[in-house]
This record gives sequence, structure tokens and C-alpha cells, in this order.
Amino acid sequence: MPHIRLRRLRKNEYIRNWVGESDLRPKDLILPYFVTKGKNVKEPIPSMEGIYRLSPDNLLKDLKGLNTLGIKAILLFGICNKKDGKGSTAFSKNGVVQKTVKAIRKNIKDIVIITDVCLCGYISHGHCGIIKGSRSPVSGPRNYIIDNDATLKVLAKIALSHAEAGTDFVAPSAMMDGQVRCIRETLDKNDFKDVGILAYSAKYASGFYGPFRDALASRPQFGNRKSYQMDFRNSDEALRAMALDIEEGADIVMVKPALAYLDIIHRAKERFNAPIAAYNVSGEYSLVKGLAEEKDLILEILTGIKRAGADFIITYHAKEAARWLKV
Ligand code: PBG
Repeated sequence: MPHIRLRRLRKNEYIRNWVGESDLRPKDLILPYFVTKGKNVKEPIPSMEGIYRLSPDNLLKDLKGLNTLGIKAILLFGICNKKDGKGSTAFSKNGVVQKTVKAIRKNIKDIVIITDVCLCGYISHGHCGIIKGSRSPVSGPRNYIIDNDATLKVLAKIALSHAEAGTDFVAPSAMMDGQVRCIRETLDKNDFKDVGILAYSAKYASGFYGPFRDALASRPQFGNRKSYQMDFRNSDEALRAMALDIEEGADIVMVKPALAYLDIIHRAKERFNAPIAAYNVSGEYSLVKGLAEEKDLILEILTGIKRAGADFIITYHAKEAARWLKV
């Protein structure tokens, strides 16, 4: 009987690197940005240490540093100060996301731009869709219904406005049924066949989104998102949602959040031969920010998400992690 000694493969860093099974690279990380109107704005978000709301000029400055870090892709969220009952600024040509995308295209080469497509940051009641039958946007806190199909039309308009501005991928996050198909058809009809869709397919109704909702002031004013986001007890349902999105034309499917859902990421990677993204969300970020052994801890988390099967990770840790991975 040979002596089994797994320690032989851990003897030193060279050997560990040689046999390491998961490889976290800066190019695997997608950095989210919160962009707000104005000039020279850099507003800290109190519940997310080290993360800011940036005006487009400051965002451009920040992007210039990304290339040296090896980060190739960003995800943009717009901060809207003029919310209304329809979320009209979400698809305005002069909206902050649309303008920022144009500015990035003009000034920065070699960056993949992904734009979030949703209503919650732009609509007064803070839900991700249009509310059915309500005369005033905030009426009917008890009996409100999110109008799936009316919302689809608006999401398609938002996606189209992002495509016109020059985005590479739109990322619909509203969790309306049929959103991927509707957006795909609209993009195709308007000759944006090369604009891709990164679908938030398995997006759970999660307590981990708290700090993000502070950043966007997008907390629902009544009720919760459980009628459209997924129930965290379920995993078969997540796979069904992902299969449907792939069928509807998603290029990349996402699991969100990441840490309490590594099993979903794993099952998805086994099942589908499509790129899988995972969103290491705001609450997951803030939970570990500033803890002892921060660097080791964060690299362990991100590598764990990758090991579970994610091809890309959307994470607010992207910059610091890329810096640590480089040295
Ligand atoms: C919008 C959206 C949310 C997040 C991304 N897109 C919030 C929500 O659904 O309430 C959360 C991201 C994060 O927490 O980092 N629909």
C-alpha cells in the first residue's frame, strides 16, 4: 500500500500554484458602478465602505485605472433624482446611464460595458415593475399587483436606449417573465443584434440587497419583492428560470446573490453549457469589509464562488481583489 500523503501537493507555493484547481483572475471580476448626474461628485455610500456614487467625469477617471488592474468589464447603475410613477428617466436619451455610456465609448477603449435594466431606481414606489390599475403610483399598498406585461414594454425601451448609447450587454434585473425574449426581439428589430443580454435569471428575494437599496434609494415603499424575485427555499425553480432565459436568448445567465447560493451556481454550471455569472451583492460585500484578515477572506470568498462554477463574478471587491491578485 503506497503512503498517501496529500501534503506533498501543498509543500510550497510553487507546487500549490501548479496543482491549484481554481484560478481567480482579474478578468473574471466585473466591477459595479453607481453613476449620478453632476460634476466632480464622489459621494460615499455609508453602508458600503469604500464605494461611492460618482459623477460621469469621476467615473471616467476611475475607469482609466482599471486596465492596469486587469479588470475588463463594468456594470453600470444610474442614480435617479427625478423618480416618477412610470420610471420615465430610465429610458430617456439624456438619462445618466445613457450619457455615461456614450462618454465611456468616446473616451475609453477596450472596456466591456454592461448596463442594468430595471425600474426600481427610477420609479417612485421602488418596485421593479409597473403597478397595475393604480391611479396614483403609491396607491394600494395592500392589494397592488405588478403588471408583468406592461413592465416588459418599458424594460425593452430601457434596453434599447442603452443599446443606442453604445452598451455591450444589457442586464435585465427586474425578474419579469419573458423579459429576455422581449428585450432580444426589440434589440434585433432595431438592428442591435450584437448587443448581448446578461440575464439576472436566478435572482432571489434576498436580505443581502440592503446596502444597494441605500445607494439607489430603491427600497420598495410598500410590500416586498417576493412576488417576482425567487423564493430562497427553491433550487429547481432557479434552473427552470435559467433554462427559459437561455431559450429566450440570454447570452450569459446569472445567479444572485452568490454566497448563500453556491449550490445553485454549481448546479447551473453542471447543467448548462452557457457562461454563468454570479453576483457577490452589496450585503455580502459590507458583511466582510474591514474584518481582520480582509485580504485572505475576500480572495477566499471570490475563489469559492469561482470554484462553485461561476465564470464571472460581479463584485464591489473587484479593484482590491485585482490588486491583490497582481502581486
Ligand atoms: C435592481 C437590482 C438590485 C440589485 C441589483 N439590481 C436590488 C434589488 O433587487 O432590490 C442588488 C445588487 C446588490 O445588492 O449589490 N433590481
